[in-house]
Amino acid sequence: MPQGVNLAGSFTLPGSSHSVNRMGYGAMQLAGRDGNKMVWGPPRDVEAAIAVLREAVASGVNHIDTADFYGPHVTNQIIRKALFPYPGDLVIVTKVGALRGEDGSWIPGFSREELTAAVHDNLRNLGLDVLDVVNLRSMFSVQQPAEGSIEAPLTVLAELQQKGVIRHIGVSNVTPAQIAEARRIVPIVCVQNHYNLAHRADDALIADLARDGIAWVPFFPLGGFSPLQSGTLSEAASRLHATPMQVALAWLLQRSPNILVIPGTSSLEHLRENLKAATLQIPAKVLADLDAVSTQDAAVPIARHE
Ligand SMILES: NC(=O)c1ccc[n+]([C@@H]2O[C@H](COP(=O)([O-])OP(=O)(O)OC[C@H]3O[C@@H](n4cnc5c(N)ncnc54)[C@H](OP(=O)(O)O)[C@@H]3O)[C@@H](O)[C@H]2O)c1
Repeated sequence: MPQGVNLAGSFTLPGSSHSVNRMGYGAMQLAGRDGNKMVWGPPRDVEAAIAVLREAVASGVNHIDTADFYGPHVTNQIIRKALFPYPGDLVIVTKVGALRGEDGSWIPGFSREELTAAVHDNLRNLGLDVLDVVNLRSMFSVQQPAEGSIEAPLTVLAELQQKGVIRHIGVSNVTPAQIAEARRIVPIVCVQNHYNLAHRADDALIADLARDGIAWVPFFPLGGFSPLQSGTLSEAASRLHATPMQVALAWLLQRSPNILVIPGTSSLEHLRENLKAATLQIPAKVLADLDAVSTQDAAVPIARHE
């Protein structure tokens, strides 16, 4: 990592030697779009996508989130083109469990054959012999966590881990019951659910996972396909001489020490802006205002670890 870089400190995945900076990068935005098919096909400017990845890593990012179903295959192929041979400290986290329909839909791929093929697609397209971390993406509902046993697919991943093609396992889009079920089957190093300033259904869960040293890696940290908009957020940003997106990321980083952020962008300008959020300190009064933004979800009072 470049000397003197502060990417919000580091976090070691439990039971592993993988220590990552808490400010990471999510690669989903690097794939293209074809009409209504989101995250589909190549981007308009592949060289620009490569430049974003290279600058992220040159700036000290050593945690990249991806999936072979982005594109499909496209995002992983761009990551390989941009970064292979990979720096020794780079942790690439991928996910399996979803597939793409020809119409661009996101469909479950939970069978033994589909999961095994997905792991091998990731290995081939990333150019790796072993995947650092694989998240099982639950698909009982595409949009949000929904109950259902994940024992069978997780057992397949545990077997692939035994075979040496996966180092660590995480889960995504899951309920607390599914996390508990997963932890009875295999050690879980990270959980990746939809969570941000305005979408806080999992507030209580974050504290439970923090106690056990498990990383919470919120997806859509900036609101996803429709970036966050809130008067309170804009007001906080102007008071702090920062942008709303920087404040949204800094809020997450101050929310709990087990939170790792993976903001997605296809723009060098946004990447630079987002990385700067790692050094933004939000004062207690402003944090309290931001904590109150979420009114839809049953947000619980936040206990911060200073
Ligand atoms: N497990 C799952 O089910 C799941 C689901 C979704 C995503 N993910 C992962 O989570 C990562 C993050 O999620 P995401 O990329 O979907 O959403 P996000 O990080 O919440 O937001 C990305 C959106 O915000 C824009 N943006 C980024 N930085 C900005 C800035 N500084 N100012 C203004 N706009 C900005 C991006 O557009 P530009 O490209 O124009 O900057 C893009 O439209 C993904 O990359 C993916 O790896 C996982």
